[in-house]
Amino acid sequence: MVEGAKGPHVPVLLEPLLEAVAPVEGTWIDGTLGAGGYTRGLLEAGAERVIGIDRDPLAHQIAAEWGGVWGERLVLVQDNFANMDAHAEGVDGVVLDLGVSSMQLDRAERGFSFMRDGPLDMRMGQDGPTAADVVNSAEEGELADILYIFGEERQSRRIARRIVEHRPFTTTLALAEVIERAIGRTKPGQAHAATRSFQALRIAVNGEYEALWQGLMAAERVLKPGGRLAVVTFHSIEDRMVKRFLQAHGERKTRVNRYASETPEETAPFRILTRKAVGPREDELKRNPRARSAKLRVAVRTGLPAEAIEATEIDMPSLGLKRR
Ligand SMILES: C[S@@+](CC[C@H](N)C(=O)[O-])C[C@H]1O[C@@H](n2cnc3c(N)ncnc32)[C@H](O)[C@@H]1O
Repeated sequence: MVEGAKGPHVPVLLEPLLEAVAPVEGTWIDGTLGAGGYTRGLLEAGAERVIGIDRDPLAHQIAAEWGGVWGERLVLVQDNFANMDAHAEGVDGVVLDLGVSSMQLDRAERGFSFMRDGPLDMRMGQDGPTAADVVNSAEEGELADILYIFGEERQSRRIARRIVEHRPFTTTLALAEVIERAIGRTKPGQAHAATRSFQALRIAVNGEYEALWQGLMAAERVLKPGGRLAVVTFHSIEDRMVKRFLQAHGERKTRVNRYASETPEETAPFRILTRKAVGPREDELKRNPRARSAKLRVAVRTGLPAEAIEATEIDMPSLGLKRR
């Protein structure tokens, strides 16, 4: 039995997503293939073709096990979703399910988890500096900024000081222990002391905020009028970026003209379908507590031309922005 046939990863918010984007037809891009839960969901819901993008070779190894049954309806691309418009044009939908997958967290050798001992790697694609490179070479102030700005870790300075005292690090558990000793063990039921620091390092190593910013613009370029954009985020910074993007590129209020035609005038590249972010329902939470912090936002592409957007317009955290 191929584990990937259903996937070891439980897809989050898939049902509300499929409802919000219905009807699913034509060509879709799944920019975060992972274990393929969304891609299979889209194909089963009626997509003629899904282009499944993931920068991690592991997602593609797993897809080789489950993807065959879909024949030419499934196209696999190993790339950053920031480049999605290089692989298609005029698509009917784009879905993004951001962050790290459980298949990545579960493999100790990938170095994403503070619960499993492995090399301090954290790279989704297999290129560029590892988390060990960042931790062992960044200046103390830079390290503190990474933890604070990317991970909202309030004790960033204290952690950075301890890291510098104890480096070099080569393994996940050694780093997690030093972080835990720096800020103290958390109470049972609370997140592990290293949660925010590991998240911040992962985001830095993979350039995740930059990819999201670029990916949202690429989605705007690649969607046809009427095409759907659905984004699922797992933490507040990402959700805020998506929200700001949709506020800036979602329809603007126009003055009501009583002589105007019935068809509303298009005023922006997107029309927002989810005024408030959609979270998991009770039954999903019971099945999968990991879904607790997931948020879904959905918008429809209009016929207006795509516009670039500045990173600052969507509140993208950047190391250039010094804290006060
Ligand atoms: C949360 S998982 C997606 C799970 C998927 N929806 C499923 O149901 O199995 C996120 C996936 O996106 C990939 N990923 C994250 N950022 C990416 C990027 N910028 N470009 C391409 N893939 C990315 C990760 O490697 C990971 O496999």
